[in-house]
Amino acid sequence: MTEPEHPEPTLPHGVPPWPGGEAEWPADPHYDPELLANGDTRNVIDRYRYWRMEAIVADLDLHRHPFHVAIENWQHDLNIGSIVRSANAFAAETVHIIGRRRWNKRGAMVTDRYQHVLHHPDVADFVEWAEAQGLPIIAVDNVEGSIPVDDAELPERCVLLFGQEGPGLSDEAIAASDRVVEITQYGSTRSINASAAAAIVMHEWVRRHARR
Ligand SMILES: C[S@@+](CC[C@H](N)C(=O)[O-])C[C@H]1O[C@@H](n2cnc3c(N)ncnc32)[C@H](O)[C@@H]1O
Repeated sequence: MTEPEHPEPTLPHGVPPWPGGEAEWPADPHYDPELLANGDTRNVIDRYRYWRMEAIVADLDLHRHPFHVAIENWQHDLNIGSIVRSANAFAAETVHIIGRRRWNKRGAMVTDRYQHVLHHPDVADFVEWAEAQGLPIIAVDNVEGSIPVDDAELPERCVLLFGQEGPGLSDEAIAASDRVVEITQYGSTRSINASAAAAIVMHEWVRRHARR
């Protein structure tokens, strides 16, 4: 059983029903008649206001970046939702959930509906998929042998692999990766919150590779 679908959050910056009523509605097929009639309070940028969800996904598919995001999920980590939201914000190609199929979607703010999400029952299945795609696995964790991400090569086509809040990345995941990168820290904490770390490294990828 998958996690119950969270309803679309009703956000303050929504838009009202299309002004002027049905006679004024735009004819373009990507518009959703229900949203034109009732207004749109979804968590979408203004460009996609009143658009059907499928039309938004199709448009996103035209410019998703060639990096993937993978997250180990053995303990139902609350950070996964926020990592999916960042993956949407930085237009990652696909998000990969490794381990448990269920994950807490609250932090995703329904962005998972616009994202391609693949499930892998274990690390071996994920590694097989990455090899079949010819995608290097870049593990992200501050463990023995990690390279500061600032100095590390971040290939344009790759999969960024993140660990869980408590244990971090599994030994199996680290062993299967092509390299391990870390975010240099300057304080006393042993680590940064998993979803914050994920956003930092995704942004490092777009800073290097994304066309504005
Ligand atoms: C909160 S950390 C826990 C593991 C961490 N290695 C520790 O010993 O505290 C959970 C996940 O966040 C990410 N993370 C947190 N701090 C990081 C850092 N400084 N560099 C790279 N990844 C980090 C990694 O993906 C890690 O698996």
